[in-house]
Amino acid sequence: MPYVLGIDISTTSAKALLVDEHGRVVATHSTPQPISQPKPLWSEQNPSDWWTGVAASIRGALAEAGISGDAVAGIGLTGQMHGLVMLDADGNVLRPSILWNDQRTQAQCDAMTAAVGEERLIRISGSRALTGFTAPKILWVRDHEPEVYARCAHVLLPKDYIRYKLTGGYAMDMSDASGTSLLDVGARRWSDEVLAALDIPAAWMPPVYEGTALTGEVSAAAAAETGLRAGTPVVAGGGDQAAGAVGMGLAAPGQVSVTVGTSGVVFAPLAEYAYESQGRVHAFCHAIPGMWHWMGVMLSAAGALQWYRDTLASDVPFDALVDEAASAPAGSDGLLFLPYLSGERTPHPDPLARGAFIGMTTRHTRAHLTRAVLEGVAFGLKDGFQLMSDAGLPAPSDVRIAGGGARSPLWRQIIADILNVSTVTVNTVEGGAFGAALLASVGVGWFPDAASACAATITTGEPVHPSEDVARYAEVYSVYREAYPALKALFPKLV
Ligand code: XUL
Repeated sequence: MPYVLGIDISTTSAKALLVDEHGRVVATHSTPQPISQPKPLWSEQNPSDWWTGVAASIRGALAEAGISGDAVAGIGLTGQMHGLVMLDADGNVLRPSILWNDQRTQAQCDAMTAAVGEERLIRISGSRALTGFTAPKILWVRDHEPEVYARCAHVLLPKDYIRYKLTGGYAMDMSDASGTSLLDVGARRWSDEVLAALDIPAAWMPPVYEGTALTGEVSAAAAAETGLRAGTPVVAGGGDQAAGAVGMGLAAPGQVSVTVGTSGVVFAPLAEYAYESQGRVHAFCHAIPGMWHWMGVMLSAAGALQWYRDTLASDVPFDALVDEAASAPAGSDGLLFLPYLSGERTPHPDPLARGAFIGMTTRHTRAHLTRAVLEGVAFGLKDGFQLMSDAGLPAPSDVRIAGGGARSPLWRQIIADILNVSTVTVNTVEGGAFGAALLASVGVGWFPDAASACAATITTGEPVHPSEDVARYAEVYSVYREAYPALKALFPKLV
């Protein structure tokens, strides 16, 4: 029986997932990843830790499945997007990777916007300049570490560093490349115009591929480290959001997903390239060949609940804490939570945005506080959803919901009420790693295309429909919309 292997290098772990020809997950192995925050707003990891973790996880997954690497027909890669990996001409890592959640580059974003022109940048790259994206990080290295910049010969993203270690080749897929700000997203190739305006050498950027395309084969050296067979094909794969969407079956325009992980993401596949005029929603290539997608990303979603529980109720199990929140009414009796604990991206691209509880009174209990957190995250998701519908996205019949937060029936109901659309879960819970495995299964010829692979392996659960709380939440949402503009000027003074 052959298998495909999905590899996901996320911010927290290096995961390897083996999937059989029927789409069944037969083994999964994760290796935790250290993260370093050497200065305020900074977030870095060492690519060598990624590779050590991936190699250990591949060996672990093969052992768990009780198979040899010979049984693996192909490999798909995914991982955290936007992280900058700089290599010298010999392929040596020049500095720690600067990650997607690093917020140090506002000055470089301003310089990029001035150099390319805001309207042009949004039209070409599908998004405005954002601190988390890759291009401003390259400019930051140029401005602050000129000796590193001078030695740079290759720019990669996290999963593509794993590809380099597996195959020895430099390559990137188009969905992940979209998160650099350097891709002409509509044309699905690097933008000569943006690269020239930023004076970034085009030779640093690897060839870009569609998500299901073959990009190389496992080398003898990588085979020795991982237990894989030398010569195993490696497909391009996708950034974690695009691959995660494939893993939830988002293969057609009209579908929408919501992922309530550490970050919160609203994702909608598109048949044609189109961008939101102010670039507040990202317009990126999908990992499915010839498709695009819109995406709104809030930086703290289930991460906000995690912080809240760790800080204020660490002795209470998650489920008990969330069950208690059901005893507070919709709208939490006038208590509002702003989820901007790590700054924000969609719809407020503001690294200095901060979280807040607003409207506290002595009658509020812990149940109200918890419910306000669940509601505040759902309002943040609504912001992304609303931007897309204002930009012309037709109302979906339902949204597919995933991520740790989707395990809570109460949170699924609150999201259905606040978005005013039914939420449905899917049978797959492995997100990006599963999507990467599906892309590999297409690449090695098991399925004719990604839509067929999704249709053969992914099913939806019972929908949660909007309840009578929709009207109440519409009122509270209009207050939520006013809260950030009212507080925005205060946040920089709190640094
Ligand atoms: C997407 C994004 C995150 C990271 C980390 O734009 O920033 O999803 O990829 O998961």
